[in-house]
Amino acid sequence: MSEAAISVRDLEKRYTTYLRRGMFRRERRVVEALKGVSFEVRRGEVFGLLGPNGAGKTTTVKILCTLLLPDGGRASVLGYDVVEQAPDVRRRIGVSLTVEKGFFWKLTGRENLTYFGMLYGMDGRRLRERVEEVLGLVGLTDLGVEDKLYEEYSLGMKARLSIARALLTDPDVLILDEPTLGLDPPSARTLRELLVRIAHDEGKTVLVTTHNMFEAEIVCDRVAIINQGRIIALDAVEALKRRVSDRVSLEIVVTPPAHVRVDGLLARVRGEVDSPADAFPENGTVRLKIVQPPERVEETTSRVLSLLHSMRCGIRRVEVSEPTLEDVFVQLTGRTGF
Ligand SMILES: Nc1ncnc2c1ncn2[C@@H]1O[C@H](COP(=O)(O)OP(=O)(O)O)[C@@H](O)[C@H]1O
Ligand SMILES: [Mg+2]
Repeated sequence: MSEAAISVRDLEKRYTTYLRRGMFRRERRVVEALKGVSFEVRRGEVFGLLGPNGAGKTTTVKILCTLLLPDGGRASVLGYDVVEQAPDVRRRIGVSLTVEKGFFWKLTGRENLTYFGMLYGMDGRRLRERVEEVLGLVGLTDLGVEDKLYEEYSLGMKARLSIARALLTDPDVLILDEPTLGLDPPSARTLRELLVRIAHDEGKTVLVTTHNMFEAEIVCDRVAIINQGRIIALDAVEALKRRVSDRVSLEIVVTPPAHVRVDGLLARVRGEVDSPADAFPENGTVRLKIVQPPERVEETTSRVLSLLHSMRCGIRRVEVSEPTLEDVFVQLTGRTGF
């Protein structure tokens, strides 16, 4: 049996879609979702697959869960090939794909878990005890909502229940696709703490995908950064951050006038500095990020500030900070894309 909990080698996946063109014509379009993805998840670690929307995270995860067949390469979980030994893989993993899908709205959290437990072949006292255990592990018991109808659950509770279901059979490997997607910041924070706790206390190997770099930094031991179907970096979070340790990040938060678009603003900023830069819209403001060597910060700041003044952007905040995983991404790709 292989040493790694999850092993992925040169994985490829193409999707073919047909676009309608008029009455009779259809145009065939091939999307290369994975272009030779390789990584290994070690036993007992929390491994993050981090990348922007469309990077190929869900595709990778679905192949590992045996829900999708690869077009090339191989993948195995606990030594079992995801194509040739799919039932062995399925028996050993706990999966949470889309938080809101697959539960019964008119059943309570506890009833839902009992139903799925039976579906997984559990019954009697073992099932009853395990349902209580996982309800406790994910904090639904503390919230006192285990006997509430699923339809009354908040998204945060649904996310917890989804993780509880993944834990039911006490699998060695948990695979979670964007578990905090759509959660408000406090619920996301609680869920992140929960993930770390489950992984460490229960000794699970966890593969978690996220487009949130902050989340990856907090939750993961090691991270693979995936972009456009390729892994562009893979290392421990601290080691990834060291790659940009000779850089600092200049952040400027602005309120642009109504007619200025984020793309336009970024293009002007990029024209002004020759360092990797990106822009994030954040409720009415835009956060600009420029990654560069420390000795250039002063000059860059004054150039960008005069540019922003000339564009009539309000300056809300200017900050120079230590590198983060986000900066690694900007440095690697020239932009964050997140
Ligand atoms: N069922 C599908 N049909 C066609 N294209 C798809 C399908 N699923 C995903 N894609 C495309 O494959 C690429 C990777 O998607 P996905 O794995 O969902 O990325 P992520 O989860 O990182 O956002 C994207 O370009 C996406 O549009
Ligand atoms: Mg996805």
